Amino acid sequence: MSELPPRVLSGIQPTGDDLHLGNYFGAIQQHIALPQQFPGECLFFIADYHALTTVHDAEALRRRVREVAVTYLALGLDTERSALFRQSDVPEVTELTWMLMAVTGMGLLERAHAYKDKVAHGLPRSMGLFCYPVLMAADILVYRSSLVPVGKDQVQHVEMAQDMCTYFNEAFGQPVLRRPEFKLSFAPNVPGIDGQKMSKSYGNTLPLFASGKALKKLVGKIVTDSTALGEPLPTEHCNVLAMLDLFLDEAGREEVRSWYRAGARDGQPFGYGHAKQLLAERIDTHFEKARAERDRLLAAPQEIEDALARGAERARALARATLDDCRRACGLV
Ligand code: TRP
Repeated sequence: MSELPPRVLSGIQPTGDDLHLGNYFGAIQQHIALPQQFPGECLFFIADYHALTTVHDAEALRRRVREVAVTYLALGLDTERSALFRQSDVPEVTELTWMLMAVTGMGLLERAHAYKDKVAHGLPRSMGLFCYPVLMAADILVYRSSLVPVGKDQVQHVEMAQDMCTYFNEAFGQPVLRRPEFKLSFAPNVPGIDGQKMSKSYGNTLPLFASGKALKKLVGKIVTDSTALGEPLPTEHCNVLAMLDLFLDEAGREEVRSWYRAGARDGQPFGYGHAKQLLAERIDTHFEKARAERDRLLAAPQEIEDALARGAERARALARATLDDCRRACGLV
């Protein structure tokens, strides 16, 4: 396998109707930067097969998948240097899932934190939920990915993929699958409106593409303490400042901190209202171009489909080659 070029892969869950700033700073922004930095192929797919374990509404699934696609494209993902595609456009991945199941013990899956968590939260114990890590391993292995950037919560799943890679290669006595490594994504502090980590499940999100009055209104709801206008504002544990930091460079952060410490800016009182105003403006301008591009793409859905089809074609060629080797290795020819 060592002769294979490096290949990075990441899967994105089409979980919500609106992608939010937590998604952006925790994953999307880093994904979009990858094709410029990584010396090999970059594959990004929208995990619609995985979504079936929780989404049972065809129209909602289609809408969410399209929203992920349009978001990545609008934010400028370079689709010449990377492939963006729907997981289900490469059905080979389900065949590899079956092959991996044949060599994987139940015990491995029973130890999955994510599964135990979901069941503890009341999700029905479907086979899909239980076998989620096998499908994820197949995603990774079918493209012979070398590197998988993930958040902390997904590390165990990549380790399981490493295990399944070994099980398969050893069971059939041929090194057909490549062992992947994980890379922890940068996880900045992105507080939600209520100060908890921004997450769709907490209902505390700021949508990426909110703007104008609606955005101001949401930003206005961000929880702060009750420091009076004109008093120094705390630079620790301030949700507004933590959000502002994400949009500012070093000098900008220092400048805003000086206003916080003084409770004043240019001789005028500076309070949370002003900080929020600043934040809303920052968000608004940061995504202005992307919002316009998103509107343009939504009016040209064929362009979105074409981009996904091109991505799927590239991914599928890789998957086909792996499956041919796997079938041969296990005698399915
Ligand atoms: N399980 C991942 C998540 O919840 C999404 C995912 C599916 C994935 N398949 C993958 C991530 C393969 C990386 C590689 O975020």
